[in-house]
Amino acid sequence: MNAQHAWQVAAFVILPYVALTVFVVGHVWRYRFDRFGWTSRSSQLYERRLLLIGAPLFHYGTLLAILGHATGLLVPKSWTTALGVPESAYSAFSKVAGTTAAVLVVIGLAVLTVRRARSDRVRAATSRIDWLAIGLLWAMIGLGVGVTVGYNVLGPGYDYRETVSLWMRGIFTLSPSVSDISAAPWIFQVHATMAWLFLALFPFTRFVHFWSAPVWYLTRPFVLYRRRRGEVVLSPGESRGWRTFGRSSAGPRL
Ligand code: HEM
Repeated sequence: MNAQHAWQVAAFVILPYVALTVFVVGHVWRYRFDRFGWTSRSSQLYERRLLLIGAPLFHYGTLLAILGHATGLLVPKSWTTALGVPESAYSAFSKVAGTTAAVLVVIGLAVLTVRRARSDRVRAATSRIDWLAIGLLWAMIGLGVGVTVGYNVLGPGYDYRETVSLWMRGIFTLSPSVSDISAAPWIFQVHATMAWLFLALFPFTRFVHFWSAPVWYLTRPFVLYRRRRGEVVLSPGESRGWRTFGRSSAGPRL
């Protein structure tokens, strides 16, 4: 094994498995020993204006990027071909979706980073691990955008589904192909390496709030606001508590 090969095995085989192990064990550890710290440690009370601009852009952009990664990296090319999706249509769609994600994530992260650096109160609530995570995010996202916009949209283009995706799926089937990822341009390799480092750090950051997204908001009953003007007169059997959407006012109290 020559020196370069050893380096590639470290980056493309050992690092992914170490990162995945730290990711899983780290979450279990955090949940068991720091359950009260399992939060985004919201700083909304310190500054609202920039947060209300940056947070939605960053979150929707990241969601779109995650969906794009899941499709491009985990779904084999033969499946989309079998479904009748021509390569040209797939490539055009992924350029549009990838560029949209890239623009949203970059603007969102820029606003959030400026907010964190410029507001004294938000900066005081930012730990060293937050800055490390932000630095890694910038490196990873900068390279990801370089890949999508610089390489695939404005540049010569590169079909990463023939190399990077094969290596990625090999990690989950315990047969990662170093030669496949090594055949990809360096920017893809460094982007993926940064992503593993970020995933290893993830369980120890405020990003754990990702798993606590309030999806149940979609099915919860409406929030009832009542004026405190005068006495509230309740009909017989009516309760003051929550009512499930669609129930009559005399329905059971929740
Ligand atoms: C090992 C894991 C990862 C691999 C192999 C990977 C690979 C890729 C590839 C191949 C692209 C180009 C997609 C295209 O042009 O159609 C890309 C773009 C991008 N990546 Fe990653 N990525 C990984 C993890 C991440 C993570 C954790 C993030 C964090 C949010 C991220 C953020 C981005 C962004 C923002 C783009 C540009 C927008 C887009 O195309 O979605 N990547 N990545």
